[in-house]
Amino acid sequence: RKPITISSLQTLYRKNEPITMITAHDFPSAHVADHAGMDMVLVGDSLAMVALGMEDTSEVLMEEMILHCRSVARATKAAFTVGDLPMGTYEIAPEQALESAIRMIKEGRVKSVKLEGGKEMAPTISKITSAGIPVLAHIGLTPQRQNSLGGFRVQGKSTASALRLLGDAFAVQDAGAFAVVLEAVPAEVAALVTKKLSIPTIGIGAGNGCSGQVLVQVDMSGYFPPGRFLPKFVKQYGDVWSESMRAVQAYKKEVKSRAYPAPEHTYPMPKEEFFEFER
Ligand code: KIV
Ligand code: NA
Repeated sequence: RKPITISSLQTLYRKNEPITMITAHDFPSAHVADHAGMDMVLVGDSLAMVALGMEDTSEVLMEEMILHCRSVARATKAAFTVGDLPMGTYEIAPEQALESAIRMIKEGRVKSVKLEGGKEMAPTISKITSAGIPVLAHIGLTPQRQNSLGGFRVQGKSTASALRLLGDAFAVQDAGAFAVVLEAVPAEVAALVTKKLSIPTIGIGAGNGCSGQVLVQVDMSGYFPPGRFLPKFVKQYGDVWSESMRAVQAYKKEVKSRAYPAPEHTYPMPKEEFFEFER
């Protein structure tokens, strides 16, 4: 498979072919994503919860994001990689954001960065893109701002809020973002924003009128214990938890019963050599 670039993403967009994106947080999950033919792989700061067991994304450090980006980048041969800038590494000033973006590229080995925010982030997006680093914007529900948004709530539900979203979308486009994630936005709003923009929109909880879709891999593949809360927009395509559980429990049982390891898992020794050894 030929590596996906900014221009092949633009080609998909022009052809109106949906862009596929999924998160990965380590070497194996990136391997799956790349082998399955995803166009884009995101090392989201959802890493905080799905890989590091943190309460929310505000806790994850740049160093941790970089470590995981490096492992994902090693497995990602064709998909276009994006690293999420964690909270606190880009909001102070465009210069701070550029410094963080450069670290993400140089140390994390990803090809682009993502950051949350609309209009207010336009100068920051300009700064990073003018240094030759592609920026994926993220508007609508921005989880890093959950405390000021009053939790995880759908954005753009009222006329005023939808207009604000559209303004943010134009602002990040004009600032040079190569695409924009729309999270938790009514489908008809996301579809209209997509129509009006000239860059791709990547939806999550934003209906099928977007230019592409993204989901968190552990959510869509079902790699979590039963009973965990899932947002309405997640479709669970697999049951990785059950398969892992089945395998680990079978292994446990066979170790306890000495069924494992069987002769075929064991290294042989010539009988006469063992005979000598035994004496
Ligand atoms: O952190 C993340 O995984 C994300 C995607 C869900 C867009 O930001
Ligand atoms: Na994120």
